[in-house]
Amino acid sequence: MTTPGRINSIRAPSTDAIALAVQRLRTGELIGFPTETVYGLGADASNAQAVVKIFAIKGRPANHPVIVHLASTADIGRWARRIPPAARLLIEKFAPGPLTLILPKSEYVPDVVTGGQGNVGLRFPSHIVAQRLLREFGGGIAAPSANRFGRVSPTTAQHVADEFGDELPLILDGGPCDVGIESTIVDFTRGAAVLLRPGGVSTAQLAEVLGYTPLPQTGKSPRVSGSLPSHYAPKTATQLVKPFAIAPAYRAARLAGRKVGVLARSAARFDDFEGVWRQAGPEWSSYARLLYAELRLLDAAGVDLILVEEPPAAIDWQAVNDRLRRATHRGKR
Ligand code: TXA
Ligand code: MG
Repeated sequence: MTTPGRINSIRAPSTDAIALAVQRLRTGELIGFPTETVYGLGADASNAQAVVKIFAIKGRPANHPVIVHLASTADIGRWARRIPPAARLLIEKFAPGPLTLILPKSEYVPDVVTGGQGNVGLRFPSHIVAQRLLREFGGGIAAPSANRFGRVSPTTAQHVADEFGDELPLILDGGPCDVGIESTIVDFTRGAAVLLRPGGVSTAQLAEVLGYTPLPQTGKSPRVSGSLPSHYAPKTATQLVKPFAIAPAYRAARLAGRKVGVLARSAARFDDFEGVWRQAGPEWSSYARLLYAELRLLDAAGVDLILVEEPPAAIDWQAVNDRLRRATHRGKR
């Protein structure tokens, strides 16, 4: 899809397009690329000047570290100084896949990648286009989610184009992301595994392999921009409401003359509803897959208020509930 007046930056992942992406990485430029979680904004992780461009275009504070994406777990030794046995267990089970490990960084990792910290985030995406790109490139790709700082992560190539327009001339199109929310981040630099961000690999899956539930994050944790209270946020005021409270909240907003969008788990809208009704899946994984695309759609629908039906508090829904809490934080004010 091309937006009038804009160069068409989206490219199908042909051999030529991948070669072009590799060339851009080698010359210190940025690219947009798909992963199974969300789209990434990539730069050569060994090139400090290239990584600085990520912070500039995203508007992200320099002290927030970025994850390094690698083709193969055989490459870890170059980037991490030490790999604890428990980290190895997770790698064996979940790599490639939606998991990021925080490990002590090697000398090779430029400071700008880690925000000056001694630890590096490593991830092995399973998306076939990310895999091909990483293999052809041969190095590590530093990449945050391909959105402006604090905004909803992109799950299609078009979302990335909508974020950056002409500022990002090459986006590889790998279709809609399968997982739809970001990777699970587990920190192995403080003894027991610490869960910094719930995500595509569930806490139950981690616990099964580790033999214990990873510890929750404490105040002393390293900086994680995704842990700011307001993050992944639509521009439109967004509120999380219990299922039974949607109708009253809707009616109150209508009385106040506000146009309302609803993100529900079911198609069952009430009779007097006039607004934009969207639904995500009934299970956490199908819901996660659609969540960001639906939030973006509602954000662009010209409504004054987005009401999100609160999903179950069950552990399965931990990552989804985490993102919804952050997306709706502003709405509480
Ligand atoms: O699924 C994902 O992880 C996606 C795709 C593109 O791989 N990436 C992603 O990156 O979500 P980003 O930068 O939007 O979020 C990564 C989070 C940030 O909050 C960052 O602060 C944290 O990971 N992080 C990265 N390196 C870290 C480190 N060395 N120590 C602690 N936190 C780190
Ligand atoms: Mg992000």
